[in-house]
Amino acid sequence: MSDAQVHLAYLLAAALFILGLKGLTHPRSAVRGNAVGALGMLLAVVVTLVEQGLLRAELIALGLALGAAIGAVLALRIRMTAMPQLVGLFNGFGGAASVLVAGAVFIVATQAAGVTQAAGVTQAAATAVSAQETIATAASGLIGSVTFFGSIVAFGKLQGLVTEKPLRYRGEQVVKLVVLAAALAAAAMIIREPLETGRYWALAAAAGLLGVLLVIPIGGADMPIVIALLNSYSGLAAAATGFVLSNTVLIVAGSLVGASGIILTQIMCKAMNRSLANVLFGGVGAAVETVEQDDLYAGKVKQTSAEEVAMLLKTARRVAFVPGYGMAVARAQTAVRLLTEALERDGVTVEFGIHPVAGRMPGHMNVLLAEERISYEKLRELDAINPAFPQTDLVIVLGANDVVNPRARESSGNPIAGMPILDVDKARTVVVIKRSLSPGFAGIANPLFAADNTLMLFGDGKAAMEGLVEAYKEA
Ligand code: TAP
Repeated sequence: MSDAQVHLAYLLAAALFILGLKGLTHPRSAVRGNAVGALGMLLAVVVTLVEQGLLRAELIALGLALGAAIGAVLALRIRMTAMPQLVGLFNGFGGAASVLVAGAVFIVATQAAGVTQAAGVTQAAATAVSAQETIATAASGLIGSVTFFGSIVAFGKLQGLVTEKPLRYRGEQVVKLVVLAAALAAAAMIIREPLETGRYWALAAAAGLLGVLLVIPIGGADMPIVIALLNSYSGLAAAATGFVLSNTVLIVAGSLVGASGIILTQIMCKAMNRSLANVLFGGVGAAVETVEQDDLYAGKVKQTSAEEVAMLLKTARRVAFVPGYGMAVARAQTAVRLLTEALERDGVTVEFGIHPVAGRMPGHMNVLLAEERISYEKLRELDAINPAFPQTDLVIVLGANDVVNPRARESSGNPIAGMPILDVDKARTVVVIKRSLSPGFAGIANPLFAADNTLMLFGDGKAAMEGLVEAYKEA
């Protein structure tokens, strides 16, 4: 393959990545977008193998089969609720690959330069490891190692292997600054004296420690933001490795991941009313719970039954569902669709209030409702549905907790303070379906459950919704 053909193929792959991302911006085109992006990646991988003289059909077929098998098993077996940690793990592998590939190329280049220098050709030795290579290698080692070790800690936290709670200690910021300074010093030394390869691993070690230190003080509702940020870092590390290898498609792909990751991070920060600095250094997740659950609920929680809710639904004209993590765990979305259809047959207006961080991953609720072919036109974001709650007869909160917790309206003192929420408490009647009065992800009590206009329908989300569908039919 000529250079021109390789670059043309890379350009085509880059265009496919961008078209793929464009497709992912809307649920309707998301599946196609995903396929287009994957096609771009297949093209990039095959062309790179050909360019490197590794075009051995059996090797490519073996790689494709192995990758497809691992991907298919993961995609089929992973629970939707475990998606954030899987994404975290993928980010980590991306970071590790960047560290290892950039490191290997660098070591080979420095060894070649060392041999030339030993032979007394000093000028050649000076140019054998170019400035582009050393700077890019240092960047790749630094960002890649932060990403890998940070992602492993994030995975451990979300998977429950290490404590989910933020781990804070005195002098934390100083410790992080010292480790960051050590990593930067190692990077500077690599750039100044590229023939010392041992420094690369010192840099990777310092950056790895930094990654661990950056993630351990974060916990609770801030974890998804960290995953999105590490996703962005994995892209930046890949782009830096692209400069090490002088591979344009890797630079483009890495930059796209870096940019989209940071945009997602910003969207999530906005949804939780946090600044990124606040998430990383503020320790909001460490806030101490001050409201006692027993005081809040004692004597105020009203329990209801499927039959009573069915009667309320029979007189309602406007109903809203607010799904949350519990709907996903219980797999209650089919029953939600059945009740929606029954209500609409009776002329009731049905809408869905979708919080940007409901569930455990961005777009979690949208995906589950889309599986049931519930029309996107019915899904409303915060700004669209909040003004409508006062005119809504009945809101069914299904396995959602933090995203409807009025304590988010407090300015500080709890892990969700300042987070925009769905104002379901403004509706005429609220029915909350969950198994108990247990808190949600943020670990705090919810005054909504004790509000005058709230009724609690205790039970597993799926069983409760199926019971409601039956009771509505019979009412
Ligand atoms: P949560 O606040 O986590 O509350 C979910 C509720 O579902 C729990 O209180 C639980 O109560 C109930 N539940 C669990 N299993 C159930 C079942 N089988 N049937 C019925 N109910 C069940 O969920 P949310 O309101 O969706 O808020 C999401 C939270 O997760 C936010 O704090 C957010 O920041 C965080 N988070 C979000 C993401 C993204 S990007 N979406 C990622 C990670 C974390 P019971 O135990 O009493 O049933």
